[in-house]
Amino acid sequence: MDITHIIVYSVWLMLSILERFEAQPRPQPRRVVCYYTNWAQYRTGRGSFKPGDINAKLCTHLVYAHAGVNVNFTIRTTEWNDLPSKWSTGMYPKFISLKNENPKLKTMISAGGYALSPAFAQIVQTKGTRAVFIESAIRFMRDWGFDGLDIMWEYPTKRGSKSSDKQKFSELLKETRESFQLESIQTGSIPLILSATVAATKDIIDDAYEMGFVAEQVDFLNLLTYDFHGHWDGWTGHCAPLYGRGDEQGVFAYNNVNASVNYWMDNGAPPNKINVGISPYARTFTIQVDNNTLPGRPSIGPGRPGKISQDAGGLTYYEICDIARHADIFWDDIQKVPFMVYNNQWISFDNERSINEKLKFIKNSSIGGVMFWNMPSDDFFNSCGSGRFPMLSTLHKNLVGNSISPR
Ligand SMILES: *[C@@H]1O[C@H](CO)[C@@H](O)[C@H](O)[C@H]1NC(C)=O
Ligand SMILES: *[C@@H]1O[C@H](CO)[C@@H](O)[C@H](O)[C@H]1NC(C)=O
Ligand SMILES: *[C@@H]1O[C@H](CO)[C@@H](O)[C@H](O)[C@H]1NC(C)=O
Ligand SMILES: *[C@@H]1O[C@H](CO)[C@@H](O)[C@H](O)[C@H]1NC(C)=O
Repeated sequence: MDITHIIVYSVWLMLSILERFEAQPRPQPRRVVCYYTNWAQYRTGRGSFKPGDINAKLCTHLVYAHAGVNVNFTIRTTEWNDLPSKWSTGMYPKFISLKNENPKLKTMISAGGYALSPAFAQIVQTKGTRAVFIESAIRFMRDWGFDGLDIMWEYPTKRGSKSSDKQKFSELLKETRESFQLESIQTGSIPLILSATVAATKDIIDDAYEMGFVAEQVDFLNLLTYDFHGHWDGWTGHCAPLYGRGDEQGVFAYNNVNASVNYWMDNGAPPNKINVGISPYARTFTIQVDNNTLPGRPSIGPGRPGKISQDAGGLTYYEICDIARHADIFWDDIQKVPFMVYNNQWISFDNERSINEKLKFIKNSSIGGVMFWNMPSDDFFNSCGSGRFPMLSTLHKNLVGNSISPR
């Protein structure tokens, strides 16, 4: 080869390397947003769950649930041992110190839950009350070392909240985002993260949210894409089906992950801001025993409570696998979820197969990640024999692997 050939060859080589580099889409870094619930410490026996039980390597974001609100609209703790005291190290410091196990980990505090609905309805009423809440939240997070705030109001315009609170919720998020930006500029700190955890059923969504505007204000949106059905319906149905059944009418046709996520996207939520909610617990029903086990059949009440979680109508993952050893297990190929029947118990749950179907959907739709509600309900002590945190591990392995964790 003479020098011209070498140059031409080198240029060709360089261009083809560059081209391959361009053509290779960079893997989208995804979020695994894990919730810790501070009341799970009171579960009986092996079910008791504290910050030390968390595997911080399985999450990009860890969210502490819940913070409460004082009558004067300032944020506050909810458990006697959230903060350090003479009697305890405090769960906040233990939670924050999990960053030592995963340096990229972001920690957040979630203000919300059912008990906080009336407080939110008060907070949003005036610019002044909103500012008290926002400023106290900023100080609270900086004092205790949280990287962000999750607002989980269940739900604007519901449970005593007025229809005008739809706009006021938008105002709250906008002012929170602006205050976070301002605080970051003033102090030179990394801006606090803001997320909102929002309803997934169309009847609530339509009343509660200015969807596109809400999405614009936050770093990400956690969609409550589970509890689509439960014993409260009065008939059997899947807790978190990926697709609809085909014969559901009106808003019920939206009671599945695919329809709900698409509804948010069609109304202005960018896919990469969405986290699909996934839960490791089951919804259970007591049924009249007959030969028809399909969903959509009458139920006569909640299923029996689990020995550890002791909640009628619900079971944790580690309680499900016990029952699965004796029950008839079915796969619903339309809705892409399993269910099982054991005597007069009808049990809707997720397993590895349905999680993989949801992961396919998440990747195919360029969704930003998952919210995992909640860690204490996964099999964190390997009772089922598939390792600790089987469901969360599957999610993390598929969505994050070794890639960088995003904001
Ligand atoms: C709000 O109430 C809390 C709890 O009673 C109290 O500790 C705090 O000082 C109050 N803050 C303001 C600004 O009044
Ligand atoms: C998923 O949702 C979209 C939008 O609502 C709909 O067009 C599509 O048919 C759904 N897919 C399935 C398999 O139900
Ligand atoms: C249920 O199954 C049993 C045994 O297979 C059968 O004898 C009975 O007729 C069935 N009942 C109904 C309502 O289908
Ligand atoms: C993947 O996305 C395409 C185009 O948006 C859609 O037609 C297809 O049904 C999707 N498949 C899954 C499994 O979500």
